[in-house]
Amino acid sequence: MISAEFGDRYSERIWENHTAEDFERDVLHGLRATQKSIPSKYLYDALGSVLFEAIVLLPEYDLPRRERLLLERHASTIVANLGPSPHLLELGSGSSEKTRMLIEAAIANYGSAVYTAIDISLEALRAAAAQLLERYPSLVVDAFAGDYFQVLAEVPRRPATLALFLGSNLGNYPGRRGHDLLRAIGGALAPHDFLLLGIDLRKDRAAMERAYNDPIGVTAAFSKNVLARVNRELGAEIEVGNFRHMSRFDEDTGSIESYLIAKRSATYPLGEGRGTVRFSEDERVHIESSHKFTRDEIRGLAGATGFDERMYLPDDDAGFALVLLEHREGC
Ligand code: AVI
Repeated sequence: MISAEFGDRYSERIWENHTAEDFERDVLHGLRATQKSIPSKYLYDALGSVLFEAIVLLPEYDLPRRERLLLERHASTIVANLGPSPHLLELGSGSSEKTRMLIEAAIANYGSAVYTAIDISLEALRAAAAQLLERYPSLVVDAFAGDYFQVLAEVPRRPATLALFLGSNLGNYPGRRGHDLLRAIGGALAPHDFLLLGIDLRKDRAAMERAYNDPIGVTAAFSKNVLARVNRELGAEIEVGNFRHMSRFDEDTGSIESYLIAKRSATYPLGEGRGTVRFSEDERVHIESSHKFTRDEIRGLAGATGFDERMYLPDDDAGFALVLLEHREGC
């Protein structure tokens, strides 16, 4: 057990994750709507998470590599803004792999650091924490397994906090939801604390679409798994092979919109007592929005949620940026 091994350098708290009833309710609601959809959070079951780990290795999906280069370049400048005993608080920490650069820079600067990792997956949190604690003897890790909003409402405040929301995960919270999430992050921060965002920027349409339509079909498998999950968990009988994956940039939303499209019309049972779902030929099921930001959008969003931009650090061809925001007084 990890807690015993590292004594008071490790603690964890677990919130109840999405229940089977939430999944059933959301899926049925989405599939019965005129524009069919399945919430993107359901892409990440055990198999979906493994498929996403494969996506980040795809040459076409270059967001992680762009972000890594920027972190290598700027980690020490970013943490230089913090005070002694810095606290890094990460949303969606996953393997915490890229975060190491910031943890290392914080320890090099201040001698020690506290790392609060928030993720939906307890297994991922424990595996990442064990590696970090082994590697950095002066690091303390607090792990929180649960939904971001639940955890942020209760996470203890610590001085000199740098919150981290990397990987352009903010792009999966389009419109009002992104706004609400930044507000919730602000609620866990004191004035003058910082928030570092990793943001995929709007660029050439072909380059953006290539990242979500890889030629070997890993992204398609990641998408289709959500239908397979509906079959597995609800006992539905949707023929997954009757759907193709398609992602395209939508000028109106400023996002890559990902869909599963029925190749031919069909009706499928949704599991005992839930009736059927009918798809017409070429009907789309929306499964994910990945917003691509402009600098002005980021500034506007930050300003509206109680933050001021302190550093804007784009990569060489302005395809991805790290953005350091400072939490405003009185917000
Ligand atoms: C996790 N998230 C930022 C990814 C994205 O780019 O929207 C998820 C993803 N979907 C398909 N490829 C990657």
